[in-house]
Amino acid sequence: MISFRGYDDVIKRVYDNNQEHVFASWDRLGPGQRESLLKDLADVDFGLMKKLFTAAGAPSHGSYRPAPFIPLPKTPAEHEKFRKAAALGEELIRGGKIAAFIVAGGQGSRLGYEGPKGKFPVGPVSGKTLFRLHGEKILASGRRYGVAIPWFVMTSHANHRETVEYFESEKYFGLDPRDVFVFPQNMIPSLDEKGRLILESECGVFKNPDGHGGSLSALRTSGALDEMKSRGITVISYFQVDNPLVKIIDPVFIGFHRDAGADISSKALRKAYAEEKVGVFVQYADNTLGIVEYSDMPQEKINERDPGGELLYSSGNPAIHLFGREFIERITSSDLSLPYHTAKKKIAAHGGGEITGYKFEKFVFDALSMTDRNVILEVLREEEFAPVKNASGADSLETCIKLMDGLHRQWLGARGAKISPKTRIVEISPLYALGADDIPAGLALPERESVLLEAEVR
Ligand code: UD1
Repeated sequence: MISFRGYDDVIKRVYDNNQEHVFASWDRLGPGQRESLLKDLADVDFGLMKKLFTAAGAPSHGSYRPAPFIPLPKTPAEHEKFRKAAALGEELIRGGKIAAFIVAGGQGSRLGYEGPKGKFPVGPVSGKTLFRLHGEKILASGRRYGVAIPWFVMTSHANHRETVEYFESEKYFGLDPRDVFVFPQNMIPSLDEKGRLILESECGVFKNPDGHGGSLSALRTSGALDEMKSRGITVISYFQVDNPLVKIIDPVFIGFHRDAGADISSKALRKAYAEEKVGVFVQYADNTLGIVEYSDMPQEKINERDPGGELLYSSGNPAIHLFGREFIERITSSDLSLPYHTAKKKIAAHGGGEITGYKFEKFVFDALSMTDRNVILEVLREEEFAPVKNASGADSLETCIKLMDGLHRQWLGARGAKISPKTRIVEISPLYALGADDIPAGLALPERESVLLEAEVR
């Protein structure tokens, strides 16, 4: 067995777990490299890795049925309930109880863009990036409600530094830097098909980000939960970096969440078609709620219809949630931990070759089954969901731009603005309007190919 001052217990753990192949290049490594390899290994939870390898697969809760949800309001009584929810939500927002929380650990690789996905430009006319659009929405909501809304940003090791530099260079999109907190998520080693650790370099263990489910523990370990507590935050508005239409601060949603005393609330939208790549809300036999990923749902369930011929599992997950701060405190300080999902992937290992291995990730929505009280609120997809995930086809920049243009035209139409037939594309900045109500009635628009409404018409 090899030896290194201060690390002999780590080395013993490596051997005890039959992982000594990681020392194959030991003789060639300098003292600094040896120490950095050992530091990496010191962080590995070998017991957990063994458990994950033997139990590789998706965690299962058994049988399920569609989850109940609050549908879009139709009757006057329902509309009244929504109005009451909005009033309650507004009170909480004005009282400074809400924080925004974005999970932005992902890279833009699927879009053919090397860098943090949040830096990807999507503004149809302005070319604003995802981060800028989100930042401006938070700024505009803060102005509307007369309160500073803190923004917590989870990055990953791969993009943390670039994200921080970007926020600095963009002057935090107008937000006060003291209200923006950027922290990286944790990492977990991947394993090869024999359950062995993989090296990414001679002296580094290959790790992947621990999934957006890791965001809950990262909120704790980064000190974000403490910061929220000291600011009096009670509700955390969670959203994904890839959706520029998300209503980050939504009084109706917040009101329903508070009224139900919910631990987690989630928005749901009607699936556009059976095969759409979104998770769906379900209720398990023990009455807890959950989301089943499109890739984990059997084909016959994906296509199952109700007696009226509608898709049975039709409540899609736009990944927009509210979390009670105290709920996250509770589950991150207990033994309750979110399960890991396993994905078989090609991994670029040290030595230049690609190998097949297992990556492990937690999914944030698995926390749903740990709650006592939830709200699932149906929303209109054209108002809140335009994800950019792929370079072309479904959920691409092209579809996202169409959806943004469509929604902004709808707002203008609702306020009686005339749009010239010459105008091919319309974009409304969050700083100009967060919804139709912010647009002056009968607005005259310039007769141009592309129109951008900023603080003043350009
Ligand atoms: C996700 C949801 C799906 C939902 C869809 C809506 C999962 C497993 N599925 O699918 O139910 O219908 O979005 O658009 O999430 N992220 C991190 N760290 C990580 C992994 C992901 O911050 O370790 C962030 C990404 O930056 C992104 C978000 O989580 O903002 C979603 O991840 P992604 O892998 O793109 O999920 P989808 O497969 O698109």
